[in-house]
Order: sequence, then C-alpha cells, then structure tokens
Amino acid sequence: MHPVSSSGHLNGGNGQMNAMAKPPVGAAQFTAAMGLAATGVSVVTTDGPLGRFGLTVSAVSSVSAEPPLVLCCINRKSPAVAAVEGNGVFAVNLLSAAHRAYAETFAGRPREGRPFDFSNHDWRDGELGLPLVSDATAIFECEVHDQLDAGTHRIFIGRVVAAHSGAADPLVYCNRAFARIVHHEGN
Ligand SMILES: Cc1cc2nc3c(=O)[nH]c(=O)nc-3n(C[C@H](O)[C@H](O)[C@H](O)COP(=O)(O)O)c2cc1C
Repeated sequence: MHPVSSSGHLNGGNGQMNAMAKPPVGAAQFTAAMGLAATGVSVVTTDGPLGRFGLTVSAVSSVSAEPPLVLCCINRKSPAVAAVEGNGVFAVNLLSAAHRAYAETFAGRPREGRPFDFSNHDWRDGELGLPLVSDATAIFECEVHDQLDAGTHRIFIGRVVAAHSGAADPLVYCNRAFARIVHHEGN
C-alpha cells in the first residue's frame, strides 16, 4: 500500500517503474481496490443517426468549468461507443437514490423488462433531442468535444451545452453494491 519506494522517491525517482522489483497489478487486484471508491451512478444516453442507446456508467468526472467539460469512460466492447461517436452527442444523467431500476436496466441486468430498454422508464426530451431521466439528481447535455482510447475503454469528453440540478440525493455505488448517502450530523 505504500507508494514511496525505499529510495524515498516515487518509482525510484526516475519516473520508471522497476518491473523486476514490483510485479504489475493484476485486474482483480486493481478492481478490488478501485471498487472501494464510492461513486455516483449515471446513465449515459445518446440518440441520432446511429440510434438511441443508454448505458450505466460510474466513470464520470468533471473536467473543466470554463469551458464546461465532463468526461465519461465506456468499455469499447459496448455498442454505446459507436453510438456516441456517430451521434456526436450524449447526456450524463446522474441518478437519484430512487433510480436504482434505471441503473439495473442500463447495466443489462433489469429485475423487470428487457435490458437496455427505454420503454419501462420515464424520460423527457432534452435540448439536443436526447432522452433525459425524469427527476434526475443532475443532467449534463453534451456535444462530443474530444475522445481518446485508453486501455479497454474510450474516454469521451463532452462540451456541456445544458446543465440541470435536481433536488434528490444521488444513488451511490461502492464495493459492488448500491447505497445511499447518510449525511453527517452537524453539516
Ligand atoms: C454501477 C455500475 C457502474 C458501471 N460503470 C461503467 C462504466 O463506467 N463504464 C462502462 O463501460 N461500463 C460500466 N458498467 C457496465 C455497463 O453498465 C454494462 O453493465 C456492461 O457494459 C454490460 O456488458 P456485459 O453484459 O458484457 O457485462 C457499470 C455497471 C454498473 C452496474
């Protein structure tokens, strides 16, 4: 767990990992550790010439406020990658604690209805013609600003053309389970 090597410098002080001294981190080890990072849960939606698609995504981050940019990371195995790239637009719908069913449907594991199916859930149309989750905690409607392949995933950076703030507490995902926020006393 200690990030500093015996020389007192990260990576031995020369920016190079010593592959002999330190074995690479395996996917299971990486996933077990990263799974402890609590995140919000979003459904990224897109629509346009390549069709309508939605995917549950936790890898969402703010990039910049001026200009307003957000990013999301999508596995290149997902048909959502070609859809977002071809449509040129996407919306990040940050789900509320009441929206667990959306997360399950768009992760391909619905308790009711068909996977990745929009018809079981409530939507409204956004400014870019994208399906937006009704009563979402927050929504960012985006045009694709840039994209980059990294490992197994595509990083889409979106230029935010409309942002909406709701009132509901967000859904949380941590250690492979959905959770809710409990506010500390005194805040
Ligand atoms: C809470 C949660 C967060 C997820 N986050 C991401 C993500 O950030 N990027 C991604 O590409 N897939 C993410 N997924 C996986 C996709 O939603 C989806 O389950 C997967 O692409 C379906 O493919 P599979 O059936 O081959 O696993 C997440 C799933 C869940 C349940």
